[in-house]
Amino acid sequence: MTGEVNYSDLIPNNIDLGADRRLKRALESWHPKFMHWWKTYGPDEYQDKEVYLRTAVSVDKAGWAQFGHVKMPDYRWGIFLADNTQQDKRIGFGDHKGEKVWQDVPGEFRGPLRRLIVTQGDTEPASVEQQRILAATAPSLVDMRNLFQVNVEEARHLWAMVYLLMAHFGRDGREEAEDLLKRRSGDADKPRILGAFNEATPDWLSFFMFTYFTDRDGKYQLASLAESAFDPLARTCQFMLTEEAHHMYVGETGVARVIQKACEIMREHRTDDVRHYGAIDLPTLQKYVNFHFSVSTDLFGAEQSTNAANYFTQGLKGRYQESRIDDDHQLKDQPYRVIQFDAGQLVEREVAALTSINERLRDDYIADCQRGVDRWNKIIAEAGIDFVLTLPHRAFHRQIGIFSDLHVTPSGALIDAERWARECHQWLPGPSDHEYVKSLMQQVTEPGKFASWIAPPRLGINNQPLDFAYLKLAH
Ligand SMILES: [Fe+2]
Ligand SMILES: [Fe+2]
Repeated sequence: MTGEVNYSDLIPNNIDLGADRRLKRALESWHPKFMHWWKTYGPDEYQDKEVYLRTAVSVDKAGWAQFGHVKMPDYRWGIFLADNTQQDKRIGFGDHKGEKVWQDVPGEFRGPLRRLIVTQGDTEPASVEQQRILAATAPSLVDMRNLFQVNVEEARHLWAMVYLLMAHFGRDGREEAEDLLKRRSGDADKPRILGAFNEATPDWLSFFMFTYFTDRDGKYQLASLAESAFDPLARTCQFMLTEEAHHMYVGETGVARVIQKACEIMREHRTDDVRHYGAIDLPTLQKYVNFHFSVSTDLFGAEQSTNAANYFTQGLKGRYQESRIDDDHQLKDQPYRVIQFDAGQLVEREVAALTSINERLRDDYIADCQRGVDRWNKIIAEAGIDFVLTLPHRAFHRQIGIFSDLHVTPSGALIDAERWARECHQWLPGPSDHEYVKSLMQQVTEPGKFASWIAPPRLGINNQPLDFAYLKLAH
């Protein structure tokens, strides 16, 4: 047992962990199980290497981003709530709007709050499992470092959710914390809760797309939980958002560098056949965009949802930037426009805003996705190349919600199952695309060197040069 560990030192925190004996004991018994999970299902190899990582040791400006070389198992997984900046903080939406936020879980909301926390918590270790083998094909040391940074932070997010479960849900919470380590991404018997978190992340293009599109779902889920009337959840999620921003940055710049490389080759050799030069062509990139965007939009759930309406009315989960929305924040009889399937057509309809909470969050998400795609297209346009990346129609390739029974092209045309089966590999990566991308995945570990298919980043990490030893590979 680890009874002698000084948890306040080992686990940087701003929750006065040392003073809460019951919580400390619960975390003490969970910690070795977490370490076993991390070593078995976390990054393969490299656990004994020193990695240049950013560690949060407090939530203030100076403390939340301390850089230094550390072996991943020695990473200090902290537990942080964003500072309580508001005196007399009030609930911002739903039936309890205007009342004081809750520091404890109200009895009647134990079930739904627990479900929300477990569902969020489950995604954190899932993505670490999905990315487990990627270091073996890292296109550079700085990319490998970024992968590990994302991994340790997702594991810290697991700690954040486990803290809430253990501090506020008693025995049930402790059981849930154990189960978070028992489910496994892609496992047929004990899969992770949400679909996208059971997909493979087999190559680095998938990794960059995942961190761009799927971590961005995380941003929107966290942002709406950051509105919660249950204040410890709100403040936990608020702090997680600072780290989430880095994951999306890794994704956006990763894809941008793949685009840049393709464009450089197209210009230099006056050809569209960039595969000949060991790069990834823009049409293949478009297929990856289509895939990752569609599985990530599924994560927002059904378009019409009484569950989501209840979460909102109960004050458990708000909308994105709730306080900036100009309405009554109760939505008793307000309309919202959604796309529906009616009489064989996709049509826009006005429906109740309250049951459309999921769709509204998906709308915010899609608009955010589009901004990065615009920046990618700027790189292509500036290279003088006539190609535009687009987000597929939201009804394309869906597994959840009203579009899941339909077959829809990326441009939003309804087609029959036969045509879908015949043509879907024009729109989604097929075996030959995966095969090609896989063939490029070769590890590059010489500092400052990069694989053939990706341009170097413009900047190193924390102002370090590109050829910095982001990993110390020699013993
Ligand atoms: Fe996360
Ligand atoms: Fe993330």
